[in-house]
Amino acid sequence: MDKKIKKIGILTGGGDCPGLNAVIRAATRTAILKYGLEVVGFKNGYRGLYLGQTVKLDMEAISGILPKGGTILYSSNKDNLFKYPFIEDGKTVYRDVSDVGMKNIQDAGIDAMIIIGGDGTLTSGRDFARKGINVIGVPKTIDNDLASTDVTFGFDTAVAVATEALDRLHTTAESHHRIMVLEVMGRYAGWIALEAGIAGGADAILIPEIPYDIEKVAEKINDRRHHDKDFSIVVVAEGAKSKDGEMIVSKVVENSPDPIRLGGIGAKIASDLEKIAELEARATILGHLQRGGTPTAYDRILSTRYGMKAVELIMEEKFGNMVTLKGNDMAYDSLENVIGKIKNVNPQGELVTTAKNIGISFGE
Ligand code: F6P
Repeated sequence: MDKKIKKIGILTGGGDCPGLNAVIRAATRTAILKYGLEVVGFKNGYRGLYLGQTVKLDMEAISGILPKGGTILYSSNKDNLFKYPFIEDGKTVYRDVSDVGMKNIQDAGIDAMIIIGGDGTLTSGRDFARKGINVIGVPKTIDNDLASTDVTFGFDTAVAVATEALDRLHTTAESHHRIMVLEVMGRYAGWIALEAGIAGGADAILIPEIPYDIEKVAEKINDRRHHDKDFSIVVVAEGAKSKDGEMIVSKVVENSPDPIRLGGIGAKIASDLEKIAELEARATILGHLQRGGTPTAYDRILSTRYGMKAVELIMEEKFGNMVTLKGNDMAYDSLENVIGKIKNVNPQGELVTTAKNIGISFGE
């Protein structure tokens, strides 16, 4: 009997993230070793899909990539083919060039696509699924903010990097009697700050989901001083905001699905605290270090499970879905259901309660 699925395509979009290569490797190995399929990668995210930039993925191409950061397929966090920018008469105009992407998939003889990305990349994945492409999504982001899955790959590594940074900042905090503020990523969700803050023994954790009062943060720091702890560690998510303030935007990136880049709140908090907490303060922005380098063992395993499951879903023809982790089980949910929702920290949830009960301040 003629097999329906003979060739699959893989594309990575959005910011790089630890575990991308592990997903590519697992999907390719499953496709080749278990199902005898051909595998093709599109380079540079959706731009490569538009330009027809393909690369054959065979056992040789994926050899040795499991521990490597980044993506062997490269990526782009711009280039939405449903709203693709062209310069005409000195002005940027946008056109829907998704049909070119569709044609390139069909011309390459690809029966199904694995699209690995966060909300922006998977929004286009959903839109290609609506146009009839057989799509399976894989949830990638250090921010852990995608709906329907308990954990996105890359998050564990980001938390590990931020935790190590906190351990190192403790040294200066203690030696110099300082407040050390660490600004971490996460966009509009506070997952990295919350988990790294708990793991790294922070005294205050400031997240977008719980707007802070700087006086309350200072109260916590002064209270520690009165108990012979004349240093403090504050972790702040880039999307944190004060009760009467706004998130701080560091940059606007045209043509990105979400053009807003956050950043700068760490420096503001350090400067505000220095005025009222009577200790010197310094801010560190951890930035892209959270996304770079080798994935943790947890992320390698999760990425491998996601990549394998994506191919299984293709063979079961369960298209239009994203692979998910529910509890400790692999599952899936419709891309229609996933897109456009942000999975935020629950301010009343068990993790926040645990942090509060061990004395961590959220600046409330
Ligand atoms: O979504 C991942 C992420 O690293 C966010 O945490 C951060 O806000 C954003 O991407 C930074 O994007 P860029 O790489 O464009 O600076």
